[in-house]
Amino acid sequence: MSHIPTITFAKSSNNKLANDKPSKKPTGVMCILRTQDGVETANAQEYAGPSLAKAIVAAEFKSKVNSALEILVPVGTDIDRLIVMGVGTASALDENGWLKLGGTFASKLGTAKAAAVLLEIAEHEVTPANAADFALGIMLRSYKFDKYKTKKDDDADPKVSSKVTILVADPTAAKKAFVSRQSVFGGVVLARDLVNEPANILGTLEFAAKAKDLEKLGVKIDVLTEKEMKKLGMGALLGVAQGSVRPPRMVIMHWNGGKAKQKPIAFVGKGVVFDSGGISIKPAAGMEDMKGDMGGAAAVTGLMHVLASRKAKANVIGIIGLVENMVDANAQRPGDIVTAMSGTTIEVLNTDAEGRLVLADALHYCRTKFDPQFMVNLATLTGAILVALGNQHAGLFSNNDELSERLTAAGLSTGERLWRMPMGADYDKLIDTPNADVKNIGGRYAGSITAAQFLQRFVGDTKWAHLDIAGTAMGSPASEINAGWASGYGVRLLDRLVFDHYEG
Ligand code: BES
Ligand code: MN
Ligand code: ZN
Repeated sequence: MSHIPTITFAKSSNNKLANDKPSKKPTGVMCILRTQDGVETANAQEYAGPSLAKAIVAAEFKSKVNSALEILVPVGTDIDRLIVMGVGTASALDENGWLKLGGTFASKLGTAKAAAVLLEIAEHEVTPANAADFALGIMLRSYKFDKYKTKKDDDADPKVSSKVTILVADPTAAKKAFVSRQSVFGGVVLARDLVNEPANILGTLEFAAKAKDLEKLGVKIDVLTEKEMKKLGMGALLGVAQGSVRPPRMVIMHWNGGKAKQKPIAFVGKGVVFDSGGISIKPAAGMEDMKGDMGGAAAVTGLMHVLASRKAKANVIGIIGLVENMVDANAQRPGDIVTAMSGTTIEVLNTDAEGRLVLADALHYCRTKFDPQFMVNLATLTGAILVALGNQHAGLFSNNDELSERLTAAGLSTGERLWRMPMGADYDKLIDTPNADVKNIGGRYAGSITAAQFLQRFVGDTKWAHLDIAGTAMGSPASEINAGWASGYGVRLLDRLVFDHYEG
């Protein structure tokens, strides 16, 4: 990936001694940090040359967080371009703040071949973790999905990956902290690639093959075929799949990094490789986005990648239900009644409410086969969650307060935020039907909640949370750490949940 810079850490000179000047003058692009109080370190002034103060005044640069001032060929230096990055108030920079700062820096790199960043803030300690997060931010922001562009953009696409040197007080410690971030990056990229890939290229079998690649990292993979799922009675999932020439698959990923006797934790993903709506067909406008309707499955696969590559000390199951929802003579019809693996009968009143049908069987299979400590499912489940929360939070629905609190906290640390939504008996009755045990749609209102109530009917007394990521996994506006569309949402969030509570 030529877009992703190669990152190394090196020692910044010790600015405690007034006469200790930087030993090697940087060339290429140089970046320094500056607080809102208008201070940069003595080292920064030394690197940036004598015109720095004048340039800041001339540009009226306020050093607000994630703002940047660029100065070309500053006098008295060998630098091509100096980037002065505002950090706002240094003490306000949390983990996510450092990610964003790194991402903002990456967005200024352009086609630079080499860049150095002096990661020092006046009167504020930049920790090895801060430096590693900054580096991860650079990499996340540099990701681009352009494999189908046969002509590259000379102004925007570097021909070789640029080399970024991050100057810190303790490069050895920063490098060590960076190792787990590189694992995280691998998982996020995998999730983004899966979501970005068009449905003609990434069908159910192709997705299953991608998941099988995780065997190289030590993940054990089982794949259920259509025949096996029929035998298990997964009538809900199979009903969705029956209109597609692509056969359904359920992939079960096992990462056994924990103690042998420890009950696993489980993550379950909706993997609709394309959602046309089926016979209840979607309108043409925007239908192309439904290539990303496997964002939940992508996040689970990306998470397993991270956990295996950083050898997480936990036993984790990842399950993804892979189907395609198509319009076909053999497709399921509105009004059809199917029987899920749990024995629950479902009246399919709208074939476009297909994700919950896939998850009904995946969740039931997960809890009866593995008896996990908890299950978290991720799904691009409802357009209604976009109406409620936009692209800023995913919806969190759960039958367990502790799990909800842990997820919410992981969301705040990583910036992959969650907002808990209500559930309850009065919502649940909206999916009752005289014709079967349950129907797959509620009424006009509370569409995300009735979808969650539907899922809850298949989780029994297992601790469970459902994350509706329809607004966060895809169609994401550009942010400091993502150039756009597929975000890889959920990978960093769940890796953090596992790390904070379920290892060792
Ligand atoms: N995959 C869609 C939900 C979706 C919408 C994801 C927009 C991402 C962006 C889901 O399968 C769906 O079609 N849901 C319907 C449910 C309705 C028929 C009850 C919806 O949200 O309109
Ligand atoms: Mn749908
Ligand atoms: Zn869908």
